[in-house]
Amino acid sequence: MDTEEILASAYTLLNGAVLNYKGEPVGTAAALDDGVVAPNYEECFVRDFVPSALVFLCDGQYDIVRNFLRMVVQLRHQQSVMEGHERALGLMPASFRVPAKDDVNGVPTADFGDLAIGRVAPVDSAMWWIILLRCYVLTTGDIKLAHSPEFQESMRATLDLYLKESFETSPAMLVPDASFMIDRRMGVYGHPLEIQALLYGMLSTAQELLLPLPENERLLSNSKKRLQTLRSYVRIYYWLDSQRLNEIHRFGSEEFGQDVSNHLNIYPETIPDWMDGWLPPNSGYLVGNLGVGRMDFRVFSFGNLLSILFGLTTDEQADQIMNLYTARWPELVGNMPLKISYPAVDGDKWRYTTGSDPKNVPWSYHNGGSWPCLLWAFVGAAVRTGRHDLARKALDQAMEPLCCDQWPEYYDGKAGSLIGRRANVHQTWSAAAVILAHKFLEDPDALAVFESINF
Ligand code: GLC
Repeated sequence: MDTEEILASAYTLLNGAVLNYKGEPVGTAAALDDGVVAPNYEECFVRDFVPSALVFLCDGQYDIVRNFLRMVVQLRHQQSVMEGHERALGLMPASFRVPAKDDVNGVPTADFGDLAIGRVAPVDSAMWWIILLRCYVLTTGDIKLAHSPEFQESMRATLDLYLKESFETSPAMLVPDASFMIDRRMGVYGHPLEIQALLYGMLSTAQELLLPLPENERLLSNSKKRLQTLRSYVRIYYWLDSQRLNEIHRFGSEEFGQDVSNHLNIYPETIPDWMDGWLPPNSGYLVGNLGVGRMDFRVFSFGNLLSILFGLTTDEQADQIMNLYTARWPELVGNMPLKISYPAVDGDKWRYTTGSDPKNVPWSYHNGGSWPCLLWAFVGAAVRTGRHDLARKALDQAMEPLCCDQWPEYYDGKAGSLIGRRANVHQTWSAAAVILAHKFLEDPDALAVFESINF
């Protein structure tokens, strides 16, 4: 199969997934599989639409992205009141459904996680919405949309909610389990890396898109401070390379006062056995989660790659993360890019972190499964760090099998060589990721949508 044929197949899926409302395109369905695993795969998920949207932007199809951005802003008002508990307007839906073609009086309906199987709040949605708005503005020059009162008000509501003072002792953001791409219980409560990367992306964006109006002043200054403290915190405390691992291995604990080396009181005994000898020289990564007395050493790909793309890592750290991928290719990439998390949790640990979730058994789905939808972020990060060789290698090895296997949602197994047991086929973001990755590689200008911002 040649590249053109594979891309044509990916475009057929992407275009076939476009959802219309009142004759206008407003998003893409998550999957076009007739036997989808859950009915909400027919809906447009905010996070899933991001790679689709970036493809549309690169192709000059701006309408669908603008309509989507507008639609999601309006849907915020559908937040249900759960048992008298009224929630803030700053949250955005995980997904929305458009009425069937023949239902002329129907209106789109949103799910804020109350209906989805995992019943989790999609904390990432609003952050993706703001980040996508920036990509839209950068590509189209349509700053008017971002400056409209409705969009300014929406960004304010989100920042208000996300920057709320809570009981935190660090600038990282605290969230419940499964509040982002990993949307089922996986022991990712606390301060997961992906959320911190998105927060950083959102706060940087806010500096650009929020107008200097009196009502925005406090949020502008708070978000500027927070993004600076968050950046230093992540770069120092989430970072793990062999030098840092040595420090942690010899950490003193139970230290009192300000001048301590082990600020978060991490016990060296928590270093998992698999780490012994695992980190090659000149490599490193940002750990998956961090809190007081808790370091989750698992490698979560999306958080690391987004941190590179949004400029949350230093340039040196970005290079070292790509070195880790080079040296640990069989484990982190294997036959199908890309492992969502590494390694899998098993045994009792699997039982109590996932609640014995049969979908998240070891080396499947969120628990060490391989997700082609992450390809765009991998290729983007590789191109940004000048590692075109890695970008090409990952894309070349993925394209043909993905197309022949009909664009599965995820793969199983240590090496990602089995189509996911419960995976949909015709999964839209698997196809969109390949198209976008191909664009990033062939046309480096396409990456400009993620130009990092330095405040
Ligand atoms: C699964 C994924 C989630 C995705 C959704 C739709 O729930 O975990 O990240 O948004 O499917 O594809």
